[in-house]
Amino acid sequence: MPGLDIPSELSHRPLVNQTTAAGEEVSCRIEEARKPVEPCSIVIFGASGDLTARKLIPAFYHLHKEKQMPSDFRIIGFARREKTDESFRNELRQALDQFSRTKPVDDQVWKDFSTRLLYCQGDITDSAAYQKLEKQLSSFGSDPLRHNLLFYLATSPSQFGEVVEQVHDAGLLQHEDGQKGWQRIVVEKPFGHDLETAQGLNRELTRYAKEQQVFRIDHYLGKETVQNILMFRFSNSIFERLWNRDIIDHFQITVSEVLGVGQRGGYYEEAGALRDMVQNHLLQVMSLVAMEPPVSLDAEPIRDEKVKLLKSIRPLKPENVARQVVRGQYFAGSVNGEARPGYRQEPKVKPDSNVETYVALKLFVDNWRWSGVPFYLRTGKNLPMSASEVRIQFRPTPNVLFAAQCGQALDPNALTLRLQPDEGISLRFNGKVPGTSLEVRPVRMHFSYDSEFGAYTPEAYERLLLEAMVGDATLFIRRDEVETAWQIVDSIRKAWDTKPLSNREFYAAGTWGPVASDDLLAQSGHAWHEPLVVK
Ligand code: BG6
Repeated sequence: MPGLDIPSELSHRPLVNQTTAAGEEVSCRIEEARKPVEPCSIVIFGASGDLTARKLIPAFYHLHKEKQMPSDFRIIGFARREKTDESFRNELRQALDQFSRTKPVDDQVWKDFSTRLLYCQGDITDSAAYQKLEKQLSSFGSDPLRHNLLFYLATSPSQFGEVVEQVHDAGLLQHEDGQKGWQRIVVEKPFGHDLETAQGLNRELTRYAKEQQVFRIDHYLGKETVQNILMFRFSNSIFERLWNRDIIDHFQITVSEVLGVGQRGGYYEEAGALRDMVQNHLLQVMSLVAMEPPVSLDAEPIRDEKVKLLKSIRPLKPENVARQVVRGQYFAGSVNGEARPGYRQEPKVKPDSNVETYVALKLFVDNWRWSGVPFYLRTGKNLPMSASEVRIQFRPTPNVLFAAQCGQALDPNALTLRLQPDEGISLRFNGKVPGTSLEVRPVRMHFSYDSEFGAYTPEAYERLLLEAMVGDATLFIRRDEVETAWQIVDSIRKAWDTKPLSNREFYAAGTWGPVASDDLLAQSGHAWHEPLVVK
């Protein structure tokens, strides 16, 4: 994907073609042509929180270990608690020992990395703290370290506006990249609570920065397998030809989780599965699976197509919500033999809460390619298995020959993109069972990342932080994308808000959601397929 100042016609031109020793597979390194990451300083607001310890620092450490960080950099943690650089580093080292994806932590790498970690104590609402931050940045020896600034807002969204205004007033944020280095703002979900609050946040963020300086994270886009959706579709000729309403019967997008809400009850009571997962991760996956080919691999054309797809999703009128959306809440049960409390018994959850921990939707995309093809999406907590996958279910063969003989027993073809775990792609088709009788049964062809490329799976945050430092917005969510996704979700919420959950909407922890979710597919003669287990 592109670097900032590479003309777009050059930005994706491969520089090197590599051939394996066997002279067979030629891989094309598109990224070779992009600009190296410039030296910069990263300021993490809210640096005492979990995100910094669990995700951000381990990701920066691994980028450094793999020599992906710029030649020079500083990471400043900004937070209210009293700490010295030394105690900040010690805390982070302990966290890294616990959360690093590679263990043990490499002491040599840490030693070099940790000298670049600094702490700035201050209150987010206090302008004097930003003056202190400004002084700290100005003390750095080089212009890029002083002016190339990545502001990571690991704070509550209600503080986004304040931080952006304060960094601007302290002279650290220019309205445009480029005059004196670059400045970018990285934010995390929850990105608003509904369309109105998301629009409000967007206004706050862009009061002092351009939209191009705002990088909204959806960590699903940092996953290798999710990025591979575009490669799979647009670097192969055979699949894309099948990618339309004439050949595909329906899609099933599943993101299931074995964990309940655990200690996150307080957050979850405000969110629910629809806001927590559908508004972002599931709709993002759907847009990549269903979008039209972009005119180039640059960030804006790709994001244009994603928005176009989201805008083509047929709006759900209140009377259709009951028919096309199923919500559920888990009650006590057991997951893989482990007892689980009901959602209403979880800490910080109201004993009569109506918040959904499961949601299944049937969406239609009203465009030329997908007219009439259902997209089924489902996600839930305390389900029997943790798995994320996209199943592309092809139409059955005409009702002649084998289909005429076998009827329902003849499986239609299916392609499964396994996003996690056991990352890979599987194609299901029918074959003859060897022997003298004429017997047909489904067989599978598997591609596994692990066996093809080895077990290297960088954390989503590593990729996303790197992209933010490079300034490539492809894997981040644009303002109109967020707002369009909220429109879809808001129309559903409106229909639910006044209605308490009915008995049919509860499911036991450890099952595949409420019965109504099976009925949702059965209306059209479809049925959910359990996520594929390959190992
Ligand atoms: C987060 C949600 O965005 O994604 C969590 O807030 C959820 O509720 C998580 O558990 C799932 O992410 P992953 O990468 O584990 O599939």
